[in-house]
Amino acid sequence: MDIRTLKDIENLEGKKVLLRVDFNVPINKTTGEIEDDTRIVESLPTIKFLSEKGAKIIIISHLGRPDGEVKDGLRLTKIGEHLSKLLSKPIKKLDEVLSENIKAETGKMQNGEIILLENMRFRKEEEECEPNFTKELASLGEIFINDAFGTAHRRHASTAGLADFLPAYAGLLMEKEITELSKVLNETPAKPITMIFGGAKIDTKIGIIQHFLDKADYFLIGGGLANTFLFAKGINVGDSLCEKDKVDVAKQIIEKLNSKEGALNLPTDAIVAKELSNEAQAEEVAIESLPEGMKIFDIGQKTAENFSEIIKKSGTVIWNGPVGVYEFKPFMNGTKQVAEAIADSECISIIGGGDTADSVKKLGIPPEKFTHISTGGGACIEFLSGDKLPGIEILRKTQA
Ligand code: 3PG
Repeated sequence: MDIRTLKDIENLEGKKVLLRVDFNVPINKTTGEIEDDTRIVESLPTIKFLSEKGAKIIIISHLGRPDGEVKDGLRLTKIGEHLSKLLSKPIKKLDEVLSENIKAETGKMQNGEIILLENMRFRKEEEECEPNFTKELASLGEIFINDAFGTAHRRHASTAGLADFLPAYAGLLMEKEITELSKVLNETPAKPITMIFGGAKIDTKIGIIQHFLDKADYFLIGGGLANTFLFAKGINVGDSLCEKDKVDVAKQIIEKLNSKEGALNLPTDAIVAKELSNEAQAEEVAIESLPEGMKIFDIGQKTAENFSEIIKKSGTVIWNGPVGVYEFKPFMNGTKQVAEAIADSECISIIGGGDTADSVKKLGIPPEKFTHISTGGGACIEFLSGDKLPGIEILRKTQA
């Protein structure tokens, strides 16, 4: 691999390592508890490796989008406590991003000790990749290890900028993600290739679908994203989640995919309700017949069966985004059927995106039923689009 990895570091004993991880995990808005710790668990091999080699580990991450302001609900304190439990080892969580106190604390670390800094995005310089801030952050360590695959598509101070000042290496999770995803990207993946898109981050995904227009054979579109396409086709989606300002892009994609027989698969029926709750009175309707005052929250049974049939005959399936609001019982079925169809198939399956991985976990489908569950959402899809990710480019040997 053309990437510098942990194996390329000769001696870690006593070295101060700045380890960038992606601990941007779902947090319960009411209780503040971590709802899914997959990203934390996936970072353990690198942390353990560094700790066993006697490195002094300074962990950095972001959580949510605080936009350069301190937001108490987005502090990393609970994540630090959880990490400490997972490692059965104390972790010193500091409540600032960068300060004289941090310099003092990191200056007296013991070998194998772990310090966790506060949410990087509490400082606006992080997302700006501001050089003075980056240099000061870099001065805390001697080596930069990027294990934050989930944030590799961002050119931020702690995801890419640090490499301007420190030797940079991929952590074990980063290495695994690049290895697994490269198999689909660089080797010829088994045909037909099916892309499944859903979820709510509509604006980012429309761009990503464009990347795959010529590469994939089938596009199965559900979730909030489907509503934008349906709306573009003149179908009434009422007040359902829909990006009405993206209609022109959706129309272009529809036109392009209509030239490939059977490529575009939108919902033909839907599960609708007045409100999103576990007690909602859900109804199944044909997609053209959304009753007044109802919103679309899941794909219907006919759509789920069509999606499952296509998955069954696919050689490669890449899935990003649940096709319904699976967190609520009445709207879980579409995502369940899609997940089960993939799990039962022999295809190469790549699951991307925190929500998609979370849905598979909640549905109780064992992870080994899938070829690879990526910890990246946008990062995973951009990588598979062949885009250059700043957080990965800085790790290339050819750049050394
Ligand atoms: C993610 O969850 O996709 C990453 O942590 C990046 O988060 P962002 O989209 O807020 O940059």
